[in-house]
This record gives sequence, structure tokens and C-alpha cells, in this order.
Amino acid sequence: MDTGVRQLAELIAASEQIVAFTGAGVSTESGIPDFRSPGGVWDRYGPINYQDFLRDPESRRETWRRGLHTYPVVAAARPNPAHAALVELERLGKLRAVVTQNIDGLHQAAGHDPERVVELHGNAHGVRCLECSANFSRADVQRRVLEGEDEPACSACRGVLKPTSVSFGEPMPLEAVRRAEREARASDLCLVVGSSLVVFPAAYIPRYAIEAGAELAIVNATETPLDDVAAVVVRGRAGELLPEAVALARGLIRPLTNGSG
Ligand code: APR
Repeated sequence: MDTGVRQLAELIAASEQIVAFTGAGVSTESGIPDFRSPGGVWDRYGPINYQDFLRDPESRRETWRRGLHTYPVVAAARPNPAHAALVELERLGKLRAVVTQNIDGLHQAAGHDPERVVELHGNAHGVRCLECSANFSRADVQRRVLEGEDEPACSACRGVLKPTSVSFGEPMPLEAVRRAEREARASDLCLVVGSSLVVFPAAYIPRYAIEAGAELAIVNATETPLDDVAAVVVRGRAGELLPEAVALARGLIRPLTNGSG
């Protein structure tokens, strides 16, 4: 048993108001590449930023072209044991919220109360018209692209369509950001799973938790800028180590006894 796993289990057992903060690393074992590991998304594509998407039809066409390759991987992905371990924390009554940078919807698919999942960077499964705000499913719009529409327009008003994931330079959903900060500041443990913690403002969330007096635990395959202020760092695969820690924590929590005190 990795000592970090045991220490994490003890921290989880002692915490009642956990906020999980997740990044792409929690979904790599579901088959979705992360961004900054070797072979990750940014090794293959340059980011398309929001202003270019709005101004340049070629950026919009490139977005939909990329979606032909990237969206099927997200749509086919299923939650892995790391996602399930976080759902177990909710079932144990210990989880306030999952604040995620991910757009894959796997936390909701794993069984969390959707109200407890805060998506800072939106969601890849939706498409919205920038003119009339009509909503469409990403699968339907990608199908239109597959059938030859290289820049599908809104079927209601012919306006510009955009996936509901947040692009670089696009304002983050204000309510999600405010909710994430509130949850972090109310937590007694911020559990980072699978994030490089280098993208802001999202990466402020664990820092807000620390400022409010919460402990910090990090489960990540590689070093992060917050490792030296974390109470526990568990180095390795979240799909293997997080379930171990949660199972151990469950054993440490006094089993509820019916009335015998
Ligand atoms: N188990 C644990 N950690 C893992 C695993 C795994 N199975 N796989 C990858 N990791 C770690 C990597 O070592 C890396 O530190 O997860 C981290 C993922 O970091 P990034 O690829 O930078 O992803 P993320 O932190 O989510 O990026 C934040 O950047 O590009 C933007 O909008 C994008 O939401 C994303 C944001």
C-alpha cells in the first residue's frame, strides 16, 4: 500500500466537506487524451481561441473538422474507477461538489447528482446558436458536418453555431465560477485529481480552498505547482489509486451502529 494512499484515506475519513477539483487526467483512463502529457491534445492541435472563432470562418470550419475526430472519442468514453470513487465520496455524504475543468460529462455519467458537478469549461455535448441561443446536440451537428456541411448554421435562424465547451479567451460561465469559489471556500479538503494546475482562472480554485483553511490533497501522475503545499500527494494513476484510498477511508469511518452508540 502506497503511503500516500493511506494518508489520503485518513484525510478523507477525517473530512466532511470535500470539494474535488478535476482535470483531464481523471478521464485519460476512459480513453480521452489529456492536454499536456506527451501525445496530448496540444501536441496535435493548436488551441482555437474565441475571437478567431467569432471572426474567421476558417477557424469555425477547423473547429467542426476537428470535432469529427475528437468528439467521437468523448462520446464513446465511459466513466472509469476514478470517477466512481468520487461518486462513492458523495454516497458517503462527504462530497460538497466536483469542480471540473473537463467537458466530457463523465462525472455526471458516473452517477453524481448533476447539481453537484460544476463545469468551469462548459461541456462538449452541446451546441448553441450565438445569435438566438437555440440549443442542439453535438452529435446531431457533427453528423451534419459528416454529411458535408463544413460550417453548419443554426437551423432556426441561420446564425453561427458553437460547441458549448469554453474556448481560450471565452468568458467562463459566471455562475459556475462563482459557485466553484463558494464551494472551495466552504470545503475542509480540496481533492485535486488529474490536473496540471497551470491553467487560470480555474487553477485558483484549490488556492481558494487553502486560503479558507482547507487541507489539499493531490492525486496526479506528474508534479504540480501545488505539490509543496499539499498535505498529501499521491503520485500515479487516479483510476487505480483513488479507489484504493476511498475503500480504505470507508473502512476507517466508524460503521454506523443502530442505537448501540
Ligand atoms: N492519473 C492521474 N493523473 C493523470 C492521469 C491519470 N491516469 N493521466 C494524466 N494525468 C495527469 C497528467 O500528468 C497531467 O498533470 O493529469 C494532468 C492533466 O493535465 P492537463 O493535460 O494540463 O489537463 P488539465 O489540467 O485538465 O488542463 C486544464 O487546460 O487546455 C486547457 O481547457 C483545457 O480544461 C483544460 C485546462
